[in-house]
Amino acid sequence: MILSARSLSVARGRVMAVSEVSLSVARGEALGVFGPSGAGKSTLLSALAGQVRARGEVWLDGADVSRLPTERRVQRGLGYVPQGPSVLFDLSARDNLATVLGLARLRADPRALLDEVGLSSRADVPARELSGGERRRLELARALALRPAVLLCDEPFAGLGPRDLEVARAVLAARVRDGLALLVTDHRVAEALALCDRALLMVDGRAVVERPRDDFSSAPEVCDRYLVDAARAPQDPPAARALDIGGESG
Ligand SMILES: Nc1ncnc2c1ncn2[C@@H]1O[C@H](COP(=O)(O)OP(=O)(O)OP(=O)(O)O)[C@@H](O)[C@H]1O
Ligand SMILES: [Mg+2]
Repeated sequence: MILSARSLSVARGRVMAVSEVSLSVARGEALGVFGPSGAGKSTLLSALAGQVRARGEVWLDGADVSRLPTERRVQRGLGYVPQGPSVLFDLSARDNLATVLGLARLRADPRALLDEVGLSSRADVPARELSGGERRRLELARALALRPAVLLCDEPFAGLGPRDLEVARAVLAARVRDGLALLVTDHRVAEALALCDRALLMVDGRAVVERPRDDFSSAPEVCDRYLVDAARAPQDPPAARALDIGGESG
């Protein structure tokens, strides 16, 4: 396993945002982490990346990196797309990529990366002027530019329309086929799950259940605590029905 966590815990004030979570991901494998808002998914990923103080162990490519800062984990092959913005807003899309490549002393063509995420025509646009979905794809390209062996991806599909989402999904799937170990969380469950080999449900900081992809959505814990069961979904409230009728007549 190229990445493993053993009994990882993170305290946030008086609550345990992450509580005794263990997981592992192999090369060429994708693990999904799903759960309601506040379950601790982002905190888990940031602890794996070394951005918050955690108890427990993180192992990366055979080495205990639990006490190493983020930069050292990155040098050892870890990539991280955090939930919040991670671009340099004053630089163009191309220069964002050129900068990370330069810092890592990697020779690669930023245009190829922009092309991969469907942003070739936006190369000269300052990152602050990109749309939310374009910025998200630039953030993905920025993480992939460093050729990580393991990628922690926190809501890569947030704000993406169906076509852009498909571009991002295909990029990640291709990298996993090439050997990337991916740990992904996203509330677009079907789309993210399609990338994954296994998936883990987190609730209240705890890993509740882990299942192979095809068994995840039907696991009782997942149905009860995260997904909406279509058969039990409430009827549309009267106000929503009235709006529908208005839409049709207008
Ligand atoms: N900087 C912080 N200070 C205090 N508490 C925090 C902080 N960041 C997160 N928390 C708390 O930690 C818990 C887990 O938050 P986290 O962001 O990891 O959830 P999440 O599963 O990623 O949710 P979402 O699906 O909404 O992104 C929540 O109770 C949250 O309020
Ligand atoms: Mg989150």
